[in-house]
Amino acid sequence: MSAAPLICPSILASDFAALGAEVKAITEAGADFVHIDVMDGHFVPNITIGPDVVKALRPHTDLPFDCHLMISPVDAFLDAFRAAGADLISVHPEAGPHLHRTLKYIRQLGARAGVVLNPATSVDVLDYVMDDIDLVLVMSVNPGFGGQSFIDTQLRKIEVIRKKLDAAENPAILQVDGGVNAQNAGLCVSAGATALVAGTAVFKGGPSAYAANIKALKGL
Ligand code: DX5
Ligand code: ZN
Repeated sequence: MSAAPLICPSILASDFAALGAEVKAITEAGADFVHIDVMDGHFVPNITIGPDVVKALRPHTDLPFDCHLMISPVDAFLDAFRAAGADLISVHPEAGPHLHRTLKYIRQLGARAGVVLNPATSVDVLDYVMDDIDLVLVMSVNPGFGGQSFIDTQLRKIEVIRKKLDAAENPAILQVDGGVNAQNAGLCVSAGATALVAGTAVFKGGPSAYAANIKALKGL
């Protein structure tokens, strides 16, 4: 039996006109991290949240802020997100230019560092940064939008990364993001994931449903 996964609601699917209340509601409903999708309209075809919004949300919860940066080039914004209250900062290798330098810098800022792999990105990119990562995020949709369907091939990628992390005795969080729901959550965990990001599956039904939605994702 695998341990219950960490649940990281993506506030991209929340009510943007009530973000503070939404973050408080998922905190009370049993979320483990607050997943914040940052998009620049350049690396991905959508624009979302900047550091000022992250800063405004910080007083609304004690949960770790898990900032998924879909911006390129990313380095110029790391200080601002850390100062705004990001606890984990995850970056795409394609957002570059220098993944190793970026990961080192995130840790230097005192945050935990994550690498995000797009559906077509090979796991090989992890090989020479194994000692520099606290989290690996497997995208099970192409980044840019919530509400897309889970790409099944990524389950095999999760398995391969699980083996790599275990072989390296690396305790990094193995997170999955995109189209995760109560039906496929168990498959992700069996493949080796330890954290699940979910937007639609957490926020559907409004605040009174959040606790049950999170429980269902944990497989409880
Ligand atoms: C996509 C984002 C995801 C997404 C998840 O670029 O990284 O976090 O919002 O939303 P759902 O769970 O609705 O696929
Ligand atoms: Zn995300």
